[in-house]
Amino acid sequence: MAMPRYEDLDIPAADQGTAISRAEAEFLHGLVARLKPAATLEVGMGYGCSAAYIISGAGVTHYAMDPLQSDYQGLGLRNVAKLGLDGYMKFFPEFSHAALPRLAAEGVKVDFAFIDGGHRFDDIFIDFYYAELLLRDGGHICLHDAWMRSTQTVASWVRRNKKNFVQVPTPMKNLILFRKRGEDDRAWNHFRGFGTWKSLVSHSVNTLKRKARAALGR
Ligand SMILES: C[S@@+](CC[C@H](N)C(=O)[O-])C[C@H]1O[C@@H](n2cnc3c(N)ncnc32)[C@H](O)[C@@H]1O
Repeated sequence: MAMPRYEDLDIPAADQGTAISRAEAEFLHGLVARLKPAATLEVGMGYGCSAAYIISGAGVTHYAMDPLQSDYQGLGLRNVAKLGLDGYMKFFPEFSHAALPRLAAEGVKVDFAFIDGGHRFDDIFIDFYYAELLLRDGGHICLHDAWMRSTQTVASWVRRNKKNFVQVPTPMKNLILFRKRGEDDRAWNHFRGFGTWKSLVSHSVNTLKRKARAALGR
């Protein structure tokens, strides 16, 4: 399917930073087109930018959830519909902690999951946990906002504890991509500590930059 034009998405000028960037969107489109998933998933629809590029790249059923579309003037759903991609989407106006366990219980399987919902550590951790239950072997999970300490800490937990996932390098520095390779066969008492000092530095620097931009009105 043709790649959408970024400028065709309605994203309020004041909130450009909420959606994924044009470069990230185009990267995701190309990635899922190459991976050829049989179904895809995303947590956190926002302005529908990631949804539009994943659906148009993969052309398969896309499960999406977001309890707060009204905070985004429904623009996520409207953008996807405007591009004629809504026929592929199964949307749930719910928090991921409600929708994901239900999809898992229903036996839904996906091959690609994009996580960009709640951004606290526990939000991302829960989303990764359930996304894995839905993910077929060989499937991918992609985390957005790699600049955040919460995201980096979840990624560190995966790297140190989840030997059935391997990190796949990408040219996108704000995305972290993992591929599932087999089932989780850890012992019942397995635990390895996780966390990174690098994340403390990058999070602090980025937070300062964001505060400075906000103070300057940019
Ligand atoms: C950064 S925005 C996503 C932007 C989107 N990827 C795009 O490209 O337009 C985060 C979204 O996650 C939603 N959200 C926050 N917590 C959530 C949760 N626990 N489950 C599902 N969605 C959540 C918010 O309502 C918001 O729409």
